[in-house]
Amino acid sequence: MHVSGPLSSKWAAYLGLLSALSATFAPSVAVKEHDFKKCHQSGFCTRNRAFADHALASSSWQSPYNIAPDSASFKDGQYQAVILKTINDSGETVRLPITVSFLESGTARVTVDEEKRQKGEIELRHDSKARKERYNEAEQWVIVGGTALDKAAKVDHEDKTQLTVKYGPSSKFEATIKLSPFSIDFKRDGNTQIKLNDQGLLNMEHWRPKIEKPVPEKQEGESTEENKAEEPKEEPKEEPKGEDESTWWDESFGSNTDTKPRGPESVALDISFVGYDHVYGIPSHAGPLSLKQTRGGDGNYQEPYRLYNADVFEYILDSPMTLYGAIPFMQAHRKDSSVGVFWLNAAETWVDITKGKDTKNPLSLGGKSKTNTHTHWISESGLLDVFVFLGPTPKDLTAKYGELTGTTSMPQEFSIAYHQCRWNYVSDDDVKDVDRKMDKFKMPYDVIWLDIEYAEEKKYFTWDKHAFADPIGMGKQLDSHGRKLVTIIDPHIQNTDNYPVVAELKSKDLGVKNKEGNIFEGWCWPGSSHWIDAFNPAAREWWASLFNYDKFKGTMENTWIWNDMNEPSVFNGPETTMPKDNLHHGNWEHRDVHNLNGMTFHNATYHGLTTRKPGELRRPFVLTRSFFAGSQRLSAMWTGDNQAAWDHLEASIPMILSQGISGYPFAGADVGGFFGNPEKDLLTRWYQAGAFYPFFRGHAHIDARRREPYLMGEPYNTIIAAALRLRYSLLPSWYTAFRHAHLDGTPIIKPMFYTHPAEEAGFDLDDQFFLGTTGLLAKPVTQKDKESVDIWIPDNEVYYDYFTYEVVPTAKGKSVTRSAPLDKIPLLMRGGHVFARRDTPRRSSALMKWDDYTLVVAVGKNAKGTAEGDLYVDDGDSFDFERGQYFHRRFVYDGAAQSLASVDYEGRDAAAVEDGEWMKKARSLGVREIVVVGAPASWAGKKRVTVESEGKKSEARIEFTPAASGRAAFAVVKGLAVSIGADWKIDFA
Ligand code: NOJ
Repeated sequence: MHVSGPLSSKWAAYLGLLSALSATFAPSVAVKEHDFKKCHQSGFCTRNRAFADHALASSSWQSPYNIAPDSASFKDGQYQAVILKTINDSGETVRLPITVSFLESGTARVTVDEEKRQKGEIELRHDSKARKERYNEAEQWVIVGGTALDKAAKVDHEDKTQLTVKYGPSSKFEATIKLSPFSIDFKRDGNTQIKLNDQGLLNMEHWRPKIEKPVPEKQEGESTEENKAEEPKEEPKEEPKGEDESTWWDESFGSNTDTKPRGPESVALDISFVGYDHVYGIPSHAGPLSLKQTRGGDGNYQEPYRLYNADVFEYILDSPMTLYGAIPFMQAHRKDSSVGVFWLNAAETWVDITKGKDTKNPLSLGGKSKTNTHTHWISESGLLDVFVFLGPTPKDLTAKYGELTGTTSMPQEFSIAYHQCRWNYVSDDDVKDVDRKMDKFKMPYDVIWLDIEYAEEKKYFTWDKHAFADPIGMGKQLDSHGRKLVTIIDPHIQNTDNYPVVAELKSKDLGVKNKEGNIFEGWCWPGSSHWIDAFNPAAREWWASLFNYDKFKGTMENTWIWNDMNEPSVFNGPETTMPKDNLHHGNWEHRDVHNLNGMTFHNATYHGLTTRKPGELRRPFVLTRSFFAGSQRLSAMWTGDNQAAWDHLEASIPMILSQGISGYPFAGADVGGFFGNPEKDLLTRWYQAGAFYPFFRGHAHIDARRREPYLMGEPYNTIIAAALRLRYSLLPSWYTAFRHAHLDGTPIIKPMFYTHPAEEAGFDLDDQFFLGTTGLLAKPVTQKDKESVDIWIPDNEVYYDYFTYEVVPTAKGKSVTRSAPLDKIPLLMRGGHVFARRDTPRRSSALMKWDDYTLVVAVGKNAKGTAEGDLYVDDGDSFDFERGQYFHRRFVYDGAAQSLASVDYEGRDAAAVEDGEWMKKARSLGVREIVVVGAPASWAGKKRVTVESEGKKSEARIEFTPAASGRAAFAVVKGLAVSIGADWKIDFA
């Protein structure tokens, strides 16, 4: 059951009752767009767009923000000053302290606060208990490193009007801070890349007391828009033109009125990317990877991209509408250059994007008139806190962003295999039956999931005693094949008697409060509920204790957790979430922290999974629906409630790519589509695409027909099983890709602009991608009845068909059409790579753990050149890898010398690491086969190759197959006696 927006209490009560009685009701309509705000229904968004319109329309506009000259100082990599905002004709000003920090990483950070609020010299309305400061704790949740100041940054030039600081690697970065009006230009190698406040849209709505004026009578429940129509048309005196006071103090949407104890407090800034016409990032939105313009015009959006985490079920596609999670990180890209910004603000945020030719200086960039992309960032409250990255490569961007916010944690190895979910598996017998059937139909899977119905009346940490009488028995059956169980735990706690969890939440005072400071009550799945306030350390500690095996009885070592509805979803709340004037720990208003809320909750769960039993420390697996920058350190995410429709399958790929380039690559979409019933070929194609999602899970709504993959009949069963097996065989390469994501924030699946940053024709492609370092280029079929795809080729390398070894007739910058009947996944191997597989089909990844590897060498176009790749292996479960307990091998095929060598990826000395239990055993892992695709013709007739490893020479068999009708020659080496962890070299010559 899912409700479609704010509810009257009568409706809420009715739905609560329904929910208690049955769980079979479901809506059949798509998301009601009008349940979620458009910019014109949000006071601060409207005000800032009006501010921008006014500024951009006026030739005489001057930003009213100037740095007080005597206030500035520069020391140890940090510039400090006070910006004076002039607020009326008499020249009265507001003091806004600014800090520009130049960091060792080459990242710059600009932070602006409001002095009166820092000092608490403001009054709150309605006797509010809310904090007086601008929210300044986002960094405590988000930033984990990379903030050391660059002491070598130095002032290069200074006069009365501006100051230039040189910083970053080899001092190739430069920031020019202009005093009046305030703006900053960022340069790399002497060329301007990013400008802040160049358009003069900086706007920090300062605190002011409310001056009571007669207000026209409002009808209860009227929308802001309607109210606005009745406002006196009088021009506000003290604010720049375009300001509209009607939403400064109270603001209604639907039946909810936000009381705003601090009045207007938005923070906005224009950020221009000079010479850039593509911007990416700011997930999550259901739209193209390369972001669209948002102020109208052909093919553009009318609305800004919105970041306000919400339960937007059955979301619409190609829309800037907000979804469940938010990452305010944006990359701009042009040929051979990437730069970016991270807007660290957890409040509701809107981002306008416009593009235009550089009219002021058309010849500035290499003699060509280039496009500039202008972005306008608008947040409801909090500090202005923006990080500026100057690249120059997309990889630099993800690495620097990862340094600040952390990278994907190394996952539980099983969690990158296939997950089988639905709402709901109805009993433990049902689970055991699905488990057996997957085996019967030879479909590998690792995890089966339980949605909300497993818990008694949706009281989390309990079990429905009738349907799930023996959860441990169920867990043991799964465990017998190395399989896992994931159970859902949501943040709403049923408000009822005889439920110890809610009793403790209340007695320990750990719930979110309403504006009066009493525990907040709202509606969600279990009916009347309270919400844990995971901003509170005591609440997190308590929450963690609930996961102890002896508390959450029925769970065991193979049980892991799914956190849903953590935006938070509140069925009767404004926009299906919490009132903004609710209060969190430290008396921060919900408005200030909304986009962080989901992360605090899955963070609490993550820690709960590390303390389930004394002495047991394993990598937690948590899936979250809501997220923020930093969530990648703790969880996987999925794109929420999509639909069983072809266009949703298609949309999933840009969405997942966008997550990847925004630092959160452990991402997936519900395979099959959540709502509705996919036709069999759609489900089949979805499995083929899902096999290339970093997080691969089939899921379905409670009303959807059963669709476990084995129910499809032939030929679908066989085709789906093949897609699953393809994923399983490539798991070693997926795990290696996760290792790279963990090390430096690299995406797991990579779009064309990321891998080929010089190829402009690839910049807006978002339906094909490379997997990790494998050179595998996938383009899943996402359209009905489509039996071929056009794959765009970014370079002059040779490409082989993954399945047939056919040499694909490619040309750089051209598309090649590949036949793709239902049983075929369009997948190419780029020459010049080596990747690892495990080729013995088994029931779960755990059962493959001790299988030897197959290495595939795709010889490059220059047959005398090299092919390279790597393989990372650890125990897949513990944190021992942090103590060196892993193998990371680099494979180098040398075409000239005709050899393949395995060396330590980091050049580590094997003797330097003392083998733990897993390492000892893993040394027995070997190489089963080596397949060389594009093998030289001179190997024809060759029967043996020599192998050298650990000082010993041996021989192995080689079988050579000559090239034939478009297919490359290939050779298979068998009978090798080498360990995956050791150095070795094979001589083919
Ligand atoms: C909403 C989630 O998005 C969906 O995946 C889940 O099945 C339902 N909640 C029920 O828990």
